[in-house]
Amino acid sequence: ERYYHFDEVDSTNRFAKEVSNAVVFSESQSSGRGRLGRRWESERGGVYMSLSLNMTIPVSEIPKVTLLSGLAVCRALEDYGARIKWPNDVLVGGKKVSGILSEFVGEEMAAKVVVGIGVNVRNRVPDALRDRAISLHEVDENVRITEIFTRICEQLSNLLSAFPQKWGEILEEWKRLSDTIGREVRVSLYGEEVVGKAVDVDADGGLIVVSGEGRRKVISGECFYTN
Ligand code: BTN
Repeated sequence: ERYYHFDEVDSTNRFAKEVSNAVVFSESQSSGRGRLGRRWESERGGVYMSLSLNMTIPVSEIPKVTLLSGLAVCRALEDYGARIKWPNDVLVGGKKVSGILSEFVGEEMAAKVVVGIGVNVRNRVPDALRDRAISLHEVDENVRITEIFTRICEQLSNLLSAFPQKWGEILEEWKRLSDTIGREVRVSLYGEEVVGKAVDVDADGGLIVVSGEGRRKVISGECFYTN
């Protein structure tokens, strides 16, 4: 496994797509990418990292790797009582501290996955996001960027070595750390909306939402809490 360390890069995900079996870290990003085509603020002080896996998997398996990565971050931030909001936001004190963006290159049945993780550690959260986002230094003034990065790498490596054989156990642990199961939610994906109570995450990583209209499975999208 190779390790790349940048002072600044456009996007660690963009770079990681060009290499294999590598961990990419940058102190800052000039065009950090978020989910759903958004930007990810990438001021110095955060962790901006991407992992390019050394194996290819079917595209349909990518949500599992994404969930697994959220669990790795959640474990790494255990001291802060981190929880996971489906599909892959990590929360501390109910506010977003980390986001994950999985991308792939290749084919439907043989995709190389890049998992990108951003964590607010010592960077300041922009004022406009303060009610929804948090940076770890707000709850731990001594928090260190390298320590958070190291812990995430350790947990990713533990979990990836257990994948896919122990997917069942990984999913169970994910559910225990879930902040979403049991909540009333509205999930939107490309203009389609599913509203109801989140009752489970199934073996594919899909969110199961129950409403008067029945039971629906959402495989991806943006989740809002409605209570
Ligand atoms: C989200 O929208 O919640 C996902 C944010 C993912 C950001 C990380 S930072 C490192 C990696 N490189 C990127 O350009 N994006 C991801």
